[in-house]
Amino acid sequence: MSEDLNALHEDAAARIASASDATALDAVRVEMLGKKGRITALLKTLGGMDPDTRRSFGAQVNETKQALIEQINSRRETLEREAIDARLQGEAIDVTLPGRGLEYGGAHPIRRVIDRISALFGTIGFETVEGPEVEDDYHNFEALNFPPNHPARAMHDTFYVGEGSRVLRTHTSSVQIRMMEQREPPLRIIAPGRVYRCDSDRTHSPMFHQLEGLYVARGVSFADLRADLKAFLSAFFEREVKTRFRPSYFPFTEPSCEVDIHYEDLNGRAGWMEILGCGMVHPNVLRAAGIDPEIYTGYAFGMGMERMAMLRYGVDDLRLFFENDLRFLSQFQ
Ligand code: PHE
Repeated sequence: MSEDLNALHEDAAARIASASDATALDAVRVEMLGKKGRITALLKTLGGMDPDTRRSFGAQVNETKQALIEQINSRRETLEREAIDARLQGEAIDVTLPGRGLEYGGAHPIRRVIDRISALFGTIGFETVEGPEVEDDYHNFEALNFPPNHPARAMHDTFYVGEGSRVLRTHTSSVQIRMMEQREPPLRIIAPGRVYRCDSDRTHSPMFHQLEGLYVARGVSFADLRADLKAFLSAFFEREVKTRFRPSYFPFTEPSCEVDIHYEDLNGRAGWMEILGCGMVHPNVLRAAGIDPEIYTGYAFGMGMERMAMLRYGVDDLRLFFENDLRFLSQFQ
């Protein structure tokens, strides 16, 4: 009998010691000490024994039971401690690791170009303003002398928004109208911002940036336009730039020009790049905005910011500006 009890005890003790978690440990406890457990079963046999055997065997069984309870409790504590240790290990922060360093952000190259142009025009009295990117047909086209169904509208691959006459502005020229509606001449503003056209390739992006300029006052002439733009371009590029004013057509200016500037890249390739459209504000546009064209004249221009940034920084692919690759962007800090 006591041989069996010893074997039972050893077997149970070994399984308690090797129980790897609370569930395994509890299974051993139930098997030994549960209602139908093996120790419990032995205790039930005591009733049928003669008093002497019952006393001595009963004592042995109870001792074994007590011992198993203690072993189980101590194993449970060990397992709990190990679990906490493992968790602490896993969540440990190594305070001796070197810091990751503070990286300084910086303005995007397009933003830098816009800020630079604002500052330069600021020195000759131009105020920087903004207009909405979601426009109506009136400000984007009609007031700018694009008659309904006029083919000039097809020059702009317009994104229409919703049902009505809402559009994503195709150019910043809409801000000309908004400012002339709000203010009286003399008026000198530049209006940078995003514009949208349904167009995408190596040199066109469906969203890009323009900067509009508008000067309306008494006696503004084409000579002012040409002189101001030439002075601006040389200041912007910090050198004498060769420019080419080519006659062109815009519904909202008359006469109109496109301006190319001469560039030479780092590989010695040279050529002309178109960077802006300009002209004298069309009398119909002044009238539409409530300004008397018999008293006032004005010039306007619209410039592509990506082109300006490409030329200033020697970037040969427009898409680099929109990929947000830090290896590219961090070169401008
Ligand atoms: N809005 C014209 C364009 O996007 C540029 C422009 C602006 C031309 C102002 C003349 C005057 O192409």
